[in-house]
Amino acid sequence: MNKNSGLFPDIRLRRLRASETIRSMLAAPMPGPEKFIWPVFVVEGENIKQPISAMPGQFRYSVDKLIEAVAEVKGMGIKAVMLFGVLEQEHKTTDGSCAYRPDGIVQTAVRKLKETFASALMIFTDVCVCEYTSHGHCGILNKKGVVENDPSLELLAKMALSHAEAGADCVAPSAMMDGQVATIRGALDSSGFTDTLLLSYSTKFASSFYGPFREAAASAPSEGNRKGYQADYLNPRAAVRESFFDEAEGADMLMVKPSLFYLDLISEIRAKSLLPLAAYNVSGEYSMLIASANNGWGDLKLMVRESIAAINRAGADIIISYWANQYNKFLKD
Ligand code: PBG
Repeated sequence: MNKNSGLFPDIRLRRLRASETIRSMLAAPMPGPEKFIWPVFVVEGENIKQPISAMPGQFRYSVDKLIEAVAEVKGMGIKAVMLFGVLEQEHKTTDGSCAYRPDGIVQTAVRKLKETFASALMIFTDVCVCEYTSHGHCGILNKKGVVENDPSLELLAKMALSHAEAGADCVAPSAMMDGQVATIRGALDSSGFTDTLLLSYSTKFASSFYGPFREAAASAPSEGNRKGYQADYLNPRAAVRESFFDEAEGADMLMVKPSLFYLDLISEIRAKSLLPLAAYNVSGEYSMLIASANNGWGDLKLMVRESIAAINRAGADIIISYWANQYNKFLKD
């Protein structure tokens, strides 16, 4: 008969982690490159690969240079990109109309990438007008300077449709307007784009961790903040409800953004929805690890691996991360 108490000293948990062999035998695998989407910034022009100072390792690319960069990341097994257009200030307008030009930055980039890589590259596009409006908000402003929901929907639908027409595989609305998923799905379907996927930035917070992105994309609001449309981190129930709403409106996939500070909500939505779930490991989460390592406060590779393992463990099927273009350096076993 086993008189084992189930406790120390009869049981010693350290036995199961005493060697690298047993540890690796018991370890869950790190997510492979096929789980990642690389978010990348595109600018007009040629032969441009401009470093983003707030995001070391990331660049603003003209389309020709983007094709070279994508060929390189594809060599590491990364199969998907998410495109963000960066516009010169003088091309921005109050109505964000450059967002849906057939010859716009993102639309041109999608066409050229598809010409080069065809179905070997999955192209996601961010659908939000903050990079295209002179005021930097994610929709149309009324006279009081408040983002008006319903007029913004038409703009987002035109933008999404122009991306689909260019050949995007998946449009990803991130403006946090009510009804944007249903409106965009309707616009896609009525134009014959029934096969274009829709990944909703469904649970997206008004976060202080988008700072480096806003420098990269020159998309910070000139006045005010985004709290009137992005979710409040002190109201997690409302933020989860946003995901259920988008599921009901016809989103194919959901998202939690940022990721590392919202692992609880990744788990919760994973448990409550059967839809695929993406997590966006945002710019602030990326740059702060680099800043920490540069100060000698941690080993960058180990910090990257630990943070990606956490996002994966919380239940994300897809990880949108700037580490993707450095997969071999930081994440490959
Ligand atoms: C567009 C958008 C933003 C990000 C992704 N899409 C900026 C914002 O909402 O302010 C941030 C991504 C990041 O920080 O990496 N609205």
